[in-house]
Order: sequence, then structure tokens, then C-alpha cells
Amino acid sequence: MRTIAFINQKGGTGKSTLAACLAVAAKDAGERVFLIDMDPQKSIIKWGHRRPGKDIPVEAVSPTKLPIVLAALAKSHIDLVIIDTPATDSPASDAAMASSDLCIIPARPTIFDIWSSETTRGKLKTLRKDYAFVLTQCSPQPESARVRDGAAALEAMGALLQPFVASRVDYQEAAREGMGVTEVEPHGKAAEEIRQLWISLRRRLTRLKQAEKAAKKAA
Ligand SMILES: Nc1ncnc2c1ncn2[C@@H]1O[C@H](COP(=O)(O)OP(=O)(O)OP(=O)(O)O)[C@@H](O)[C@H]1O
Ligand SMILES: [Mg+2]
Repeated sequence: MRTIAFINQKGGTGKSTLAACLAVAAKDAGERVFLIDMDPQKSIIKWGHRRPGKDIPVEAVSPTKLPIVLAALAKSHIDLVIIDTPATDSPASDAAMASSDLCIIPARPTIFDIWSSETTRGKLKTLRKDYAFVLTQCSPQPESARVRDGAAALEAMGALLQPFVASRVDYQEAAREGMGVTEVEPHGKAAEEIRQLWISLRRRLTRLKQAEKAAKKAA
């Protein structure tokens, strides 16, 4: 089982949107996915209530319960746990960071998002956690200088997953319906970028697993 957390102390960067859309993309790719919502706003819980079919389990979990819940899931048939966290420096985000294999930091290509992600990155470095940025809500037009500068800044701070996620109405529509963008418009541009993002994420998780195996062998 692998655990991914979406973290950024800045609000509205797209944590919940990406958590839900990637959960659907991973499920479609054959993963058995479990979604954990640690945000008191409960965006993912509400998304789960609206979801037709209820094929992805969704649960609200408190910081103190997280290790117990993850230990139980690890013994079950779940392959991938995705955790959504609040946009605050809180026990919830600390617990999610500590318990995850990989933390994803969504950031918009604006200087305030990029600055705010430095705090998150500092915590992750202290915890020695693997992390990667995703550039979100970018202009759907060919990359502007602002997006290029944002990407360069994030790349300099750590890994940046490809592709960038554009600002598209499909993301908002999917959230409203309790779906992923790959479901509301399977042949749309948003669906394509989320499928590609899942492939990048899976590749990174595989590399992480290989590095862990190599470290164990060397020990
Ligand atoms: N790629 C996108 N294209 C268009 N709208 C988007 C996209 N990503 C997110 N949004 C919209 O931006 C808003 C914030 O997104 P979301 O709630 O996912 O962010 P968040 O980081 O989870 O916020 P919070 O910090 O409040 O939990 C929502 O209205 C969402 O529909
Ligand atoms: Mg959210």
C-alpha cells in the first residue's frame, strides 16, 4: 500500500480537486483506492456523498486516529490511500505528512503560492519526506512567462510533476457531480492531463519503492 497526501498551507491551490480527480484516475487504472479527508471543510466527504456508485471509499479521519486507520488499511486489500488536508499548519497536515510515502504540493503559478509552499517544503525536509509539486490552475493557453517562471521556481525547490494542470471548467463540474474529470469529459483536455499526471505519480511511487528496496538491501 502507498499513501499520498496533498499538502499546502495556502488555501485554494487545488488540493481537494486533485485528490478527487487522481483518486478516480488511479481507480480507472486498476488501483484499489481509499480517500481520507482530514479537512474540517470536508470537501472530499461531500464529494463522496455526491459520487454515483460509491466505488471509492471516503472517510474523515482525525490526526490521532490516522496511524491506526492506515495500519488497518495496510492489512486490507487497498493499494493506494490519498489524503486531503486543510490549508493550515495544523495537527492534521502534520499527521498526514508524517504518515505518507509521498506528499504532493499543488501550487498555482503565482508568487504568493510559491512563497507559501516554502513553509510546507521546510516541514517536509525536516521530516525527510519525499515530495513533489504540481503546478495547478495554469492558463490553458500556451505556457506564459509567468507559468514558466513558476515552474522554474518550483523545480529549483524540488521535483515538479508533469504535466501542468490548467484552469478548466471540467474540474469544477466534476467536483459538483462527485466525479473525476476523466468521467465528466473522458476525451477532454482535463481528462488527458489528469491521466498523464497519474502516470507521473505512479512512476514516482515506483521509484520510491525501488529506492526503499535498495536501501534495505544495503543495510
Ligand atoms: N484546475 C482547475 N481548474 C478550474 N478550477 C479549479 C481547478 N483546481 C481547483 N479549482 C477550483 O478552485 C477552487 C479551490 O480548489 P480546491 O478546493 O480543490 O483547493 P484546496 O486547496 O483544496 O482549497 P482549501 O485549501 O480551501 O481546502 C475550487 O473552487 C475549485 O473548483
Ligand atoms: Mg480542500
